[in-house]
This record gives sequence, C-alpha cells and structure tokens, in this order.
Amino acid sequence: MMEFGAADANGALDFTCETCTTKQTSKLLHDLIQSIVSALEARDPHTAEHSLRVGDMAERTCSLMGLPDDVTATIHMAAHVHDIGKIGIPDRVLLRNARLTPAEHALLRNHPRIGYDILSGCESLDGVAEIVLHHHERWDGSGYPDGLAGERIPLGARIVAVCDSIDAMLGKRLCKKSMAPRECVQEIFLNAGSMYDPDIAWFVLKHWDAIVGRVEFRDFIVAEPGAYHALCCSVPAPKALDLIA
Ligand SMILES: [Fe+2]
Ligand SMILES: [Fe+2]
Repeated sequence: MMEFGAADANGALDFTCETCTTKQTSKLLHDLIQSIVSALEARDPHTAEHSLRVGDMAERTCSLMGLPDDVTATIHMAAHVHDIGKIGIPDRVLLRNARLTPAEHALLRNHPRIGYDILSGCESLDGVAEIVLHHHERWDGSGYPDGLAGERIPLGARIVAVCDSIDAMLGKRLCKKSMAPRECVQEIFLNAGSMYDPDIAWFVLKHWDAIVGRVEFRDFIVAEPGAYHALCCSVPAPKALDLIA
C-alpha cells in the first residue's frame, strides 16, 4: 500500500500512499488518519468512499492553487476525515433510506462538532479539527455550526465545502440518484457567493476536468475532457485571487 523512500536528516521517511496520494513526512500522522478513516468505513462504507473522493478533489485543488505543502497536507487530511463525526450519529439517521425528519436532520447536523471533538484531542491535528468543525459553514453566514461568514471560515473548510457538495451531487446515495455533471457545474456556479467562497468555486469550475474529471465514481466516470469548457469560461472572474499563486 505504501512505498517508502529514504529517511531525511531528521529520520523522517518520505512515503507515498497509493490510496490517498498523500506525500507526508509524518508517517505516524498519516497512519492515524488512515485508522480514523477505517473506523468510519466499518460503520458506514458510503461515507468512507465519499470522504476519499473529497480528499482527492481537495488535494488537487490545493496543488493547482499552489498552496504550500504543509497547508495542502492539512487540508487534504481534513477532507479525508471531514465527516468522521458521523460515527457518533445513530444508525436510524445515518443509514436511513428515506428523507430525514427535521428532528433527524438536527441530529445529523451535530456531526461537524462530534468530528471536532474526536480530532481536537490530538494537538498535531488542531488545524485538521478546525476545518472539520467548519466544513458546513456557508459563505453568506447561513451555515452551521457557528454561522461563520466569508473569510472567517478557515480556507480549508471553504475548499472542502465545494468538493463535498460536488461529490454529494455526483455520487449516488441510498435515497437519491446521482446528478448529471452539467447540472452539478450549474449548481456550483449558481451558489458561488452564497454557499461557496466565489474565488474557490470559480477556481474549481475553471479546473473542473483536472479536479473532478479524474475522480472515479462507482457507477460512472465523470471524465469528459473539455466538456465544461464553454460553461466554465462564461463564469466571470471574481475579485483578485490573492491566495492563489
Ligand atoms: Fe459533513
Ligand atoms: Fe461530506
């Protein structure tokens, strides 16, 4: 599964994980994340697969943005475990094959806080825990758990939010069919500036084929190189992307 390279001057090993494409020098941290994902998989295979795809999309987004390696690694790990808090949600809600009642929805909305509580016990995962806590915040402040708005939402949480929505729309769920990629593109476009950071939504739309097109969904492959070029090029560029190299 993992290929190990030479130890550096500090004795840390460079290695590559074939599962998640992470390149870390902290094997211990990476193993910890893998164990957490495995725990979720035992409970809810659908959410675990979803988390892997969101992790891949987030990592590609960060790399294309030219974010520093340590920032990319933190966001990548957070994307892998963003829904870990669902481990604390009762089966009757988590595995329900029908629309949730308002009370069940309220229970499900606890998952970012539960995830934060799980991860924040480990000091090395502080940055990861913050992103997990805020991955359901919305750019306009109408999200949860804290109703943060705009750039008060951690950058990683804004990136995960876009990738999470794309996977939720394109992937099949127990109770819903997957959405056509073109409709998904339109949803991201229409909600840029309300749900999503417009800079990040714009960036993902501009690089759709590289970020989303390579993700393999179980029932179909989204890759249609250039298929969204016309639509994405009609998206007006937002304010200067000062975060993006
Ligand atoms: Fe979530
Ligand atoms: Fe999710």
